[in-house]
Amino acid sequence: MQNMAIQVKGLWKSYKQLHVLKGVDFKVERGTIFALLGSNGAGKTTIVKILSTLLKQDSGTAVVNGFDVAVKPESVRQTISLTGQFTAVDEILTGRENLIMIARLRHLKKPRQVADDLLNRFDLASAADRRVSAYSGGMRRRLDIAMSLIGKPQLIFLDEPTTGLDPEVRLEVWKIVKKLAAGGTTIFLTTQYLEEAEQLADRIAILHDGKIIVDGTLAELKELFPPAKVEYVKKQPTLEEIFLAIVGKKKEDAK
Ligand SMILES: Nc1ncnc2c1ncn2[C@@H]1O[C@H](COP(=O)(O)OP(=O)(O)O)[C@@H](O)[C@H]1O
Ligand SMILES: [Mg+2]
Repeated sequence: MQNMAIQVKGLWKSYKQLHVLKGVDFKVERGTIFALLGSNGAGKTTIVKILSTLLKQDSGTAVVNGFDVAVKPESVRQTISLTGQFTAVDEILTGRENLIMIARLRHLKKPRQVADDLLNRFDLASAADRRVSAYSGGMRRRLDIAMSLIGKPQLIFLDEPTTGLDPEVRLEVWKIVKKLAAGGTTIFLTTQYLEEAEQLADRIAILHDGKIIVDGTLAELKELFPPAKVEYVKKQPTLEEIFLAIVGKKKEDAK
């Protein structure tokens, strides 16, 4: 299936006695934004690690950009990038130096030019020669995402890209993600924020108790729950209401 960026079938993963993934299935089409939604501890990062070849599954298959992660991890790595939950930039280096370093690691021909392009694109040119330790949270996040774009990966994993960020920075990140997707990059995003999935994702999957319990477009998820009739006013459920109805507990409890 050429048009699939990710195909996951029957994925199981346990950490000793703890069964985190218990038969996870889903697919992600190329060029789309896919949001994996789940409470803290649901297993989102575990899935990201398996798909990005950092961790081996116990059983089941995962095919990323046409390569089986268990058979061709090197090939998978060449087509993806991963931005983790915690920013990976080097504090002591400047923004420009961070970018050049990654471009060199990726064996690109003109690392300096690659860095300049990204600095401009992410509105970091004026701060390019300052140490990252002096950057604001939003600037770091932008640099982090810029770094993940070096080498033009077909698929980008963003593991909780906005957790802990203030609302303006979150909006900034959303804009970047939308732009990337518009340019044809596939985005696999994990989030605990229902609004984030609602804003960004073409498809949303909810991971709960080791399985994907629903998977569809926002419109499809909404259709699972017929609108509540309050006299003559139809009310569409929000993603939050759908999530709570499925998971069966309050968001606070899910922490
Ligand atoms: N290396 C590990 N060893 C043992 N338990 C782990 C390890 N990594 C994660 N876990 C546990 O597995 C569960 C899922 O973790 P994780 O995939 O990080 O969830 P999420 O990213 O959805 O918050 C959690 O209960 C976590 O404590
Ligand atoms: Mg996580």
